[in-house]
Amino acid sequence: MSENRTATLTIDGNTYEMQVRSPSAGPDVVDIGKLYAQAGVFTHDPGFTSTSSCESKITFIDGDKGELLHRGYPIDQLAEKSHFLEVCYLLLYGDLPSAAELEKFETTITHHTMIHEQMGNFFRGFRRDAHPMAVMVGVVGAMSAFYHDSTDINDPRQREIASHRLIAKMPTIAAWAYKYTIGQPFVYPRNDLDYASNFLRMCFAVPAEEYKVDPILSRAMDRIFTLHADHEQNASTSTVRLASSSGANPFACIAAGIACLWGPAHGGANQACLEMLKEIGSPDRIPEFIARAKDKNDPFRLMGFGHRVYKNHDPRAKVMKESADEVLDLLGIENNPILQVAKELEKQALEDPYFAEKKLFPNVDFYSGIILEAMGFPTSMFTPIFAVSRTVGWVSQWKEQLTDPAMKIGRPRQLYTGETYRDYVEIENR
Ligand code: CMC
Repeated sequence: MSENRTATLTIDGNTYEMQVRSPSAGPDVVDIGKLYAQAGVFTHDPGFTSTSSCESKITFIDGDKGELLHRGYPIDQLAEKSHFLEVCYLLLYGDLPSAAELEKFETTITHHTMIHEQMGNFFRGFRRDAHPMAVMVGVVGAMSAFYHDSTDINDPRQREIASHRLIAKMPTIAAWAYKYTIGQPFVYPRNDLDYASNFLRMCFAVPAEEYKVDPILSRAMDRIFTLHADHEQNASTSTVRLASSSGANPFACIAAGIACLWGPAHGGANQACLEMLKEIGSPDRIPEFIARAKDKNDPFRLMGFGHRVYKNHDPRAKVMKESADEVLDLLGIENNPILQVAKELEKQALEDPYFAEKKLFPNVDFYSGIILEAMGFPTSMFTPIFAVSRTVGWVSQWKEQLTDPAMKIGRPRQLYTGETYRDYVEIENR
């Protein structure tokens, strides 16, 4: 479509023309960048529900179709046919790798998984009962104090090294944060294991005995990483971009992303969903909870249901449900009561006109908590695992931003509703 289309805004009889830009997919975008200079007005959009903050070629979501594409490839195909490190390459570099490119990339990531030995002291400085996300925010931010040779954001090679380091070291940092809270020794990464197996081993192995990673568990872990790898301009990714817009170093930017992800409205929903399923407890109590979710006077919502962008289905939820079946089957957890409640709740809610009318479907968080708990992770590790997965998304978006000629420091304006000018009043006169 032509780039010459315009939108017209009329304020107090004055007319302003703005360019309408056509994306390769998704709704058109009205470019209001010059609006203030021309008309002296701001636009107001809390929560950015109608605002595009950047140009990006990485991830596309069609919420009505329930489609999630990374560099054009649908997430269900990637989850079925690919694996996490290949998806990392795709997100970072734009295309699927050749066999040689993939081997080189996997070798690079594998050889960056150890963290500076002195960083162990940081973990030991935290209280044992610290939340692993608190530890991760601190330790990832501290990486800029150790890896000076990859903090120059104007050097493409340093940006590349920082990206590799972050993707490679995040599982080690998350696993060590966990080990520290349970009082077990840190387990070092091993170069003969794949990314997901290495993470499982660093979380669950102890020096006292051999630990063998089950390939089905490793596959399920890899899928969880793959399904959470990127989700375009969500809150934590936008936080990374905003931090980076000032020229901050990569480790500081990713630490900011981790801090944002920690919030229950973003990374914490799978924990809330698992807790809700446990509270429901048995299928006969489901109608009671569905009635509560529909009651406008009750703040209760079905956790793991609904999404700001997906209004048909969340394509990640289907893959997650299959993985839940596989993992529980492997672990011999037949007739798991929580899984039974989840499946029955999904069925009853989808048959209920309230959920159909409001376009509410299970989201990625509906089944992921069940899988992670069955694997042996405590709920406090659910968000750190999300952070491990999302690091590649943050890093890819950060790299893209730094090569965007339109990049400026992020500096939103405001609709001021406070006091206007008034003179200072001496304390004795107040
Ligand atoms: N249970 C019951 N009613 C709901 C639910 C729910 N889970 N979600 C939305 N609604 C109702 C809501 O009450 C509202 O009704 P009405 O129009 O009568 O006021 C209507 O649906 C629209 O809700 P909304 O809050 O305006 O929708 P939103 O797009 O702002 O919110 C959401 C999306 C994800 C915050 C919301 O669906 C929700 O709170 N879900 C439960 C929490 C959850 O599972 N979050 C994980 C999201 S997926 C993670 C990720 O991708 O990062």
